[in-house]
Amino acid sequence: MIKNFIPEGVSDLNNDEYEKIRSVEDKLTAVFREDGYRQIMTPTFEYYDLFADDTIFSDTDEIYKLTDKSGKLMVLRPDATIPIARMAATHYKESDSDLKLMYVTTVFRSADFRAGEKREFKQAGIEYFGSDTADTDVSVIETAVRALKTIVGSDMQAEIGDAGYFNGLLEAMSGYGVLEEKSVQAEIRELTESKNIPGLRQFATEHDVPEQIREVMLSLPLLYGKPQDILPKAEKLALNDTMRKAVQNIREICSGIAEKECISVDMGLINRLEYYSGMIFKIYLKKTGVIVGSGGRYDKLMKKFGRDIPAVGFGLNVDMLVESQKESGESEAEKPLMIALGKGRLADITFQKFEEAGIHFPDYSKESRKLIFDDETGKFRIIFVKAVDVGIYVEKGACDVGVIGKDTLMESRSDVFEMMDLGYGKCIFAVAALKGFQYDRIKKLRVATKYPGVAKRYFESFGRSIEVTKINGSVELAPIVGLSDVIVDIVETGNTLRENGLEVVEKVADISARFIVNRASLKTKQRQVDEIIEALKR
Ligand code: PRP
Repeated sequence: MIKNFIPEGVSDLNNDEYEKIRSVEDKLTAVFREDGYRQIMTPTFEYYDLFADDTIFSDTDEIYKLTDKSGKLMVLRPDATIPIARMAATHYKESDSDLKLMYVTTVFRSADFRAGEKREFKQAGIEYFGSDTADTDVSVIETAVRALKTIVGSDMQAEIGDAGYFNGLLEAMSGYGVLEEKSVQAEIRELTESKNIPGLRQFATEHDVPEQIREVMLSLPLLYGKPQDILPKAEKLALNDTMRKAVQNIREICSGIAEKECISVDMGLINRLEYYSGMIFKIYLKKTGVIVGSGGRYDKLMKKFGRDIPAVGFGLNVDMLVESQKESGESEAEKPLMIALGKGRLADITFQKFEEAGIHFPDYSKESRKLIFDDETGKFRIIFVKAVDVGIYVEKGACDVGVIGKDTLMESRSDVFEMMDLGYGKCIFAVAALKGFQYDRIKKLRVATKYPGVAKRYFESFGRSIEVTKINGSVELAPIVGLSDVIVDIVETGNTLRENGLEVVEKVADISARFIVNRASLKTKQRQVDEIIEALKR
């Protein structure tokens, strides 16, 4: 019998589900059409080369690749904008007038399969070629807002930034040696995008970043909120004309948008797709915090296709919009702030820190088997989960914030904001082995660990290939019984290593507890998140 399963990350749609998707698509495309956009379609698969440039598409690992008969490498469309830009650059060469295109298309990404993540999803959007004015940016954002209104009403927030602000910061680093290197700048981009303030602080110290640049680097991730509050601060911090121009551009756009109540700014907004060059924006639903759309200006991408024409556009996630129609009830802002806390090492000390900060959880005791604890005021709720799951609870928005060891976060690479180093739970990540162990440069190194991702990345960073065995605990046993040559594990007091005849061979990283925040909750529950950050800082 043929196995009747389907792959992870994709699903069949029954007629009800299909009709719901069609109805969302129809509402969106009706607005796009009213605003003068015409529908097009690009092929489902394209040459890999189109996406291989890492300044265009950074997550090449996520692309589905296939070969055709002649062995040429092809991909299933991992992004909607790049093929449309290619199409506009090749087909419309002679056209001088503005070109306004719209699409509804399927995008494929082979993301790590976690918690129901989709690998095939529908996007609907527009692309506007030929105009570089702030008015055009305003019109594009307004089309997105009007289209979304037909589905979610006023339950949305458009957050606006400008890629120039961050690019200006990188420009300010020119002349500072290592800070000019592409890989170093990519690291700053990643740290800024994930609002990883402890990471930025450590980076600034390790790389001796000049004081003035350091200040901007550390302030940038926190420059989000109402335009009138944030733009003056952003202007004050600007280090050069590129940054000042970006602030001015956002100011013009914000004043041009009619529906002021649904816009805010985030100067730390950096799209991971590097082709964005000017205004960028994201739209999230206020009730659930889900990000349903994003877009921006990508003039640099068109240059790569040999046509120097300005371009701006956005894509909306149709599947998420369909999902959002099922949700109802109280607004996120009215619910308690959900805090994910790992059982184990960090639990007791974290409860103690909350107590010291005046946030009391009367039901908590070490012996209790309870998994949910409310504070006295009803503003905060702690969910007691397995330590390795804290990242996923926060990433998926089941919890708004979490306390997690840097070791676990490095392994899970959860897509969250890492906002604070809590300064406790300190230990190190280390490579350890039986006393007297020497590396054999010829033989493949066998590594046992609870952290296979960290171990692989660490050894690969200096070109060493390893064979990893994932062990779930008492890793120190592995070299003793000959299962591995070394282990990669956390070392706190060093007692476990000592008592089992092992020693540290080299340090991989410093570890401590981190305070992480869901990307949307930072904005939808700003007041409660700020309150808890302040409490923990004290
Ligand atoms: C961790 C780690 C080491 C030990 C290090 O294990 O995996 O085994 O603690 O601490 P030390 O340097 O103070 O001795 P954990 O106690 O979490 O238990 P596990 O091995 O069952 O995961």
